[in-house]
Amino acid sequence: EKGGYDYFMLKEIAEQPKAVADTLLGRIDGAGSLTLDEVRIPPGVLREIDKVVIVACGTAFHAGMIAKYAIEHWTRLPCEVELASEFRYRDPILDAQTLVIAISQSGETMDTLMALRHAREQGAKVLAICNTNGSTIPRESDAVLYTHAGPEVAVASTKAFLTQLVACYLVALYLGQVRGTKWGDEIRAVIRDLSSIAGAVDQVLVTMEPVRELARTLASKKTVLFLGRHVGYPVALEGALKLKELAYMHAEGFAAGELKHGPIALIEEDLPVVVVVPSPRGRSVLHDKIVSNIQEIRARGARTIVIAEEGDEAVVPYADHLVRIPATPTLLQPLVATVPLQVFACELATARGNEVDQPRNLAKSVTVE
Ligand code: F6R
Repeated sequence: EKGGYDYFMLKEIAEQPKAVADTLLGRIDGAGSLTLDEVRIPPGVLREIDKVVIVACGTAFHAGMIAKYAIEHWTRLPCEVELASEFRYRDPILDAQTLVIAISQSGETMDTLMALRHAREQGAKVLAICNTNGSTIPRESDAVLYTHAGPEVAVASTKAFLTQLVACYLVALYLGQVRGTKWGDEIRAVIRDLSSIAGAVDQVLVTMEPVRELARTLASKKTVLFLGRHVGYPVALEGALKLKELAYMHAEGFAAGELKHGPIALIEEDLPVVVVVPSPRGRSVLHDKIVSNIQEIRARGARTIVIAEEGDEAVVPYADHLVRIPATPTLLQPLVATVPLQVFACELATARGNEVDQPRNLAKSVTVE
């Protein structure tokens, strides 16, 4: 049932292009409009929404962090993202004009369920993004957009994460469509690129052998750091989470702009630091800033593992290891940039002799608070 792979996680990483394509299927029509019939919240109600709040845990929370960038940029609605376990304990401000998005692969995560119950008690509308048909979270929500990742068996979430991102982009674009905000050439271009993004994910997968080789050489390291900016920041957090849960290594993700406010003190000789580089097109100021960060940490001895777009030559002199990803619009980059980090963590776990599909102390769905 592992389809020839040693682990479910490897199989599920390989299934990502299909999972992404399946999640898009039937939701974008030939004219480039979104048809999200499942979102039964009437367009009139969505037009009245004045705030979006996303609640989720773990990897799903990282998808939510990325969604915030997309929702705010494309719809100009303020968007908060909160760990579901913290949400209801801080007396959040919610009302009938708030759209709460609960993201959960299993649909059974107790923290997320309690957060959405709290939101509905305050009169907010709740939209679930979920991978499990008929599970508790979608049943208790006002509407649901299912991700079509298929069953995810490995404890560490991979294909569910990519499909959560796709669903978040669809919701963000749909809100933009319904509300008529910022609906221009950029959005049309994004919809076009999103429609063909599965091919880009596939392109990353076929170039992962050097990442595996690199991971094996790092098996005896104690710490790996991850840096990113903008949507690359949650990607860095996700890379660190995967490494913790699978390789049982100390790993931390930072927003690269924070380096000089503290974390740079951690840099020492031969410390592996993975850097997710934003596209040199688009928000190129950020690109240039992160290239300086790579220079700074390398000058202090870090071993730099740089994930950068094809054709980005500025990073070449400072990359000890360079991992290429296809060019995408800035906001969609996490769909391709996360894949090498999944492969990296999986291979490191294997090299350290860990049980990849069933990491110690973890369960696939966390049904206690
Ligand atoms: C990490 C991982 C967990 C889950 C989290 C939420 O690889 O799998 O962090 O993402 O427990 O689970 P769901 O999405 O089922 O609510």
